[in-house]
Amino acid sequence: MHRTRNKKQRNRTGRIALLCSCALVFTMTTINAESRSAASDTEERVADLLGRMTLAEKIGQMNQVHAEADDPVATLGEALRAGRIGSIINQVDVATVNELQRIAVEESRLGIPLLVGRDVIHGFKTVLPIPLGQAATWNPDLVREGARVAALEAAKSGINWTFAPMIDITRDPRWGRIAESPGEDPYLASQLAVAMVEGFQGDDLSDPGAIAACAKHFAGYGEAESGRDYATTNIPENELRNVHLRPFRAAVDAGVVTLMASFSDLNGVPATGNEFLMRQVLRDEWNFDGFVVSDWNSIHQLAVHGLTADDRESALAASTAGVDMDMAGNVYLGELGALVENGGVDIEIIDAAVANILRAKFRMGLFDNPYTDPEALPAFGSPEALATAKAAALQSVVMLKNGNGALPLSPTRLDSIAVIGPLADAPYEQLGTWVFDGDPDLSVTALQGIRDLVGDDAVIDYVRAMETSRSRSTAPFDEAVAAAKRSDVAVLVLGEEAILSGEAHSRADIDLPGAQAELVRRVREAGKPVIAVIMAGRPLTLTNIVDHVDAILYAWHPGTMGGPAIAELLFGVESPSGKLPATFPRMVGQVPIYYSQKNTGKPPSPDEIVHIDEIEARAPQTSLGMTAFHLDAGYTPLFPFGFGLSYADFRYDNIRVSSDEVALGGTLTISAELTNHSDVPADEVVQLYVRDLVGNVTRPVRELKGFRRLRIEPRQTVTVSFDVHTDDLAFFGRTNELIVEPGDFHAWIGGSSDADLKTAFRVVADD
Ligand code: BGC
Repeated sequence: MHRTRNKKQRNRTGRIALLCSCALVFTMTTINAESRSAASDTEERVADLLGRMTLAEKIGQMNQVHAEADDPVATLGEALRAGRIGSIINQVDVATVNELQRIAVEESRLGIPLLVGRDVIHGFKTVLPIPLGQAATWNPDLVREGARVAALEAAKSGINWTFAPMIDITRDPRWGRIAESPGEDPYLASQLAVAMVEGFQGDDLSDPGAIAACAKHFAGYGEAESGRDYATTNIPENELRNVHLRPFRAAVDAGVVTLMASFSDLNGVPATGNEFLMRQVLRDEWNFDGFVVSDWNSIHQLAVHGLTADDRESALAASTAGVDMDMAGNVYLGELGALVENGGVDIEIIDAAVANILRAKFRMGLFDNPYTDPEALPAFGSPEALATAKAAALQSVVMLKNGNGALPLSPTRLDSIAVIGPLADAPYEQLGTWVFDGDPDLSVTALQGIRDLVGDDAVIDYVRAMETSRSRSTAPFDEAVAAAKRSDVAVLVLGEEAILSGEAHSRADIDLPGAQAELVRRVREAGKPVIAVIMAGRPLTLTNIVDHVDAILYAWHPGTMGGPAIAELLFGVESPSGKLPATFPRMVGQVPIYYSQKNTGKPPSPDEIVHIDEIEARAPQTSLGMTAFHLDAGYTPLFPFGFGLSYADFRYDNIRVSSDEVALGGTLTISAELTNHSDVPADEVVQLYVRDLVGNVTRPVRELKGFRRLRIEPRQTVTVSFDVHTDDLAFFGRTNELIVEPGDFHAWIGGSSDADLKTAFRVVADD
């Protein structure tokens, strides 16, 4: 398991256990000596440059401007020459970028190169599945490779800084930005955060194909009340540390160059003006030495929140709290000079911010090589990029249902296939949200993928049936039903268009929009097997269709290569292997619903819950079980976190722990046997969950502590082992210190968060 070794760990009594491996320490010493000398060179260069800068030039470095205008060279040239711009955002014409860079480097007094920022969230021209879909792969290696593909294509356009990864934990599928997130779990999110940072930034940030990453949105944005984007968040510090901050910590430890402050209000202090987050946690506790950028105009918005009265106060609040660069707001540019001169902002704050920005520019090698040579980088949509996009799409699809062995389809045994639905042939929509540069011409749709795979073996009868996913007209449904009747099977490609998720695209009702549920029911009446392929930017509530279809493949927005991936899964060229990175509720009213809930004092159980339709007239209050459930939805989700079916028949047995007891600072191994009882080779994502039975703050009923994607051949049995160090059981306790407590733990290994193969162990004090 991944963890930072050689770290100090406090136990319940406050005693510190120092864990170390001598071999490891030796290697680290060698590496540290090299990186220390590079770091001190960089620090010298930063200090030298800073010492030569005027206040106006310093404030210029803290200023990022929007550069999408028709002629940015004309609009921005003068400010660049005067050193009033440290970064540009949203210019992707490489010749223009190089020219703006040339002006900054050759025509400004100090020649400081520009950071060129862009949202490269899940691909550039070649689009990978939305981040939530990538999370469903549970494959950090593939996610790293995907970020690398995105970085290479973005770098070809002159981009040297992406505003990704977005690593906001969210338990609310109403929130449109769940599409951009890694889902609900801090452990999975942390693994993927690291993978993305490594993929974007590469081994060496100064390589031509590497771009700086930005972990966003710091912090708590995913808890927006009722999933309404930008709404208030209230998160107790303990929950913040145990859940929301963990992926950010992982990204910082992985060397992420930048962080972005969130738009949202956190516990009464908007993140952009939140000293606790950016000074106490990020700098003092985590020793972050990169820089923090605001979100778009979010410094100005501090006044809109009502934290400050005007831009002057906002510039004071944000700079004091630790925002180093103002994204597209012009607030620092307009206000910081006067604030320093009248004593409101110490020059030390400005110097520290500028040093953070210059340090990043030095590390990125921009002073040595500021220009982009597009010819030195692979073509857009290269075969390698498309292959990665296809692999990611293939592994991201989650099979939620497969009744009566409806899947896989057999091209040779079918004469005709009806392909129906608004997303079957929608090259742009399948790319999903936040794809400024995605090229829909590269997209292969589900319809095309099926046609290519089936060839002449079967007739494909395509009926779009709905103009958009939101259409309410049922008039074209007759044609869809007729096509289903004529065919051996109906494949419905349903879901949400790209515009229904993403920033500012939250929904209060997360059923399939428009008349899609009605379309399912009508097609069902044709009496043929019905397969639903669903493309969406969030978990949807599928309760009203799940019993009317034979199988469901949940494909998220699968990106450029969604079509071939979906076709290969439908026809069993490959088995589905994605697992849910977020819980699927039965009803939207269950939200937030997530696997790692607390037990409560009155936990529900199946035999104690009562459904609203079963309540007898004048029943006494206590007859309803008196536990934590909804009368109309129970307490379980429709599909749990970690869930996903396969064409293989996987069974888990023989869970074991290497020892019943482990001393603080020690490691134990938890293993189980996994057998593929079928003739189908397939990947399985094996998951380890742990419960800490008693804590000085209550602990979740289960927490993911490890996972592994494995290829299992037919009839093969493998033993899957996870090493669990007691550090891995650490959590923030009542005083918000990281602790591991002696006590009893349960552990489960299986293919989902509701795995029932269980064992137990005890952590004991080491004295
Ligand atoms: C979003 C950020 C994004 C920025 C720049 C904002 O509206 O919240 O995530 O990076 O725009 O496009």
